[in-house]
Amino acid sequence: MFCYFDNNATTQVAPEVVDTMVPFLKEHWGNPSSAYSFGHDVAQHVETARAKVAELINADPREIIFTSCGTESNNSAIHSALVTHPEKRHVLMTAVEHSANIKFSNFLQKQGYQVSLLPVESDGGLDLHLLEKTIRPDTAIVSVMWANNETGVIFPIEEVAALCRSKGVLFHTDAVQVPGKLPIDVRDLGVDFLSLSAHKLHAPKGIGLLYVKRRTKYHPYIIGGGQERGRRGGTENVPYIIAFGVAAQLAMTNLHDENKRVRALRDKLENGILAHIKGTLRNGSKEPRLPNTSNIAFDGVEAEGILLLLDQAGICVSSGSACTTGSLDPSHVLMAMGLDVNRARGSVRFSLGVYNTEEQVDYALKTIPPIIARLRATGTEVTKVSPGPVVSQAA
Ligand SMILES: Cc1ncc(COP(=O)(O)O)c(C=O)c1O
Repeated sequence: MFCYFDNNATTQVAPEVVDTMVPFLKEHWGNPSSAYSFGHDVAQHVETARAKVAELINADPREIIFTSCGTESNNSAIHSALVTHPEKRHVLMTAVEHSANIKFSNFLQKQGYQVSLLPVESDGGLDLHLLEKTIRPDTAIVSVMWANNETGVIFPIEEVAALCRSKGVLFHTDAVQVPGKLPIDVRDLGVDFLSLSAHKLHAPKGIGLLYVKRRTKYHPYIIGGGQERGRRGGTENVPYIIAFGVAAQLAMTNLHDENKRVRALRDKLENGILAHIKGTLRNGSKEPRLPNTSNIAFDGVEAEGILLLLDQAGICVSSGSACTTGSLDPSHVLMAMGLDVNRARGSVRFSLGVYNTEEQVDYALKTIPPIIARLRATGTEVTKVSPGPVVSQAA
């Protein structure tokens, strides 16, 4: 049986998304910026898709900039804040942000900017008082993710946005893991910028968006033609934009299913593992948490061994380890939560999705205990015998 439990890394492209997108490769392949109707008609479809993704987050379509991915959206928001407020040289984010933010902050520091990475609590939660204290008069932007991709822990974004507003600081949230799992309303949230990535909601990889609140100063990250109302150069990726629009509609339709059915499957899997395998713990708070994500520490084993044997059994999961210089660095998210390094190294993320079934969860619950028992019995032997997959940081 094949069980894909890595939906926070990417999701299967929905068949209806593929069907809607293909005509824009085969027939309607004009350039939306062209003056003739063969191009202009395509531009109208792009605008229809823009309206659909705007509806997903309750934005005005004019507040949507299509980008190539979540990483570009995150980079663009922070870049814009720094360029439009050159007197402000400080950026504040949490230590558990995706590498799209963390690595960009390393780059910014090399350029002479100051960055504060806010620590989190042991359950992955945010200390709002500490956040408030860390905002400085020269803070250009605060960037705090809505839901963590490794633990699923949800941050109180509405409160962070209100705090930033009261201090007159721009606020960006990386909401890449949220659509289809929680309702999104940018008006209620009060954010200035919000990032999404279509491949997390059953559309292809390589298309994302940045929401920029009306009247927020914006400076493009990619400079070129006048596309996206002059806010992002580069000919539009029309088929993927169309795909994003359909996927946004599906995400709205599936919201109920994701919250109820997927949560029940995730809970069955998590409770089954915690109850039947000794020496297991959940990483991160039980709630508030994404309904599909479970991050579990297996005492006395390396996650890489688990990944390898689960892969052989047809089960896809991931660890937060990053392979650098031949050694496995434990997840920066779990380390920021203050986890012991061995516990972090033995942690695995299960992230379910709308295509998962109860049979798959039952199969996993049958398959995982003997794998853990085998790894514990053999110590590190399994990982030594086989080099295992070269693992990259959990997406
Ligand atoms: C929370 C979060 N932010 C950003 C990204 C980056 O998105 P993309 O792969 O579209 O660049 C991801 C995906 O891996 C993510 O999980």
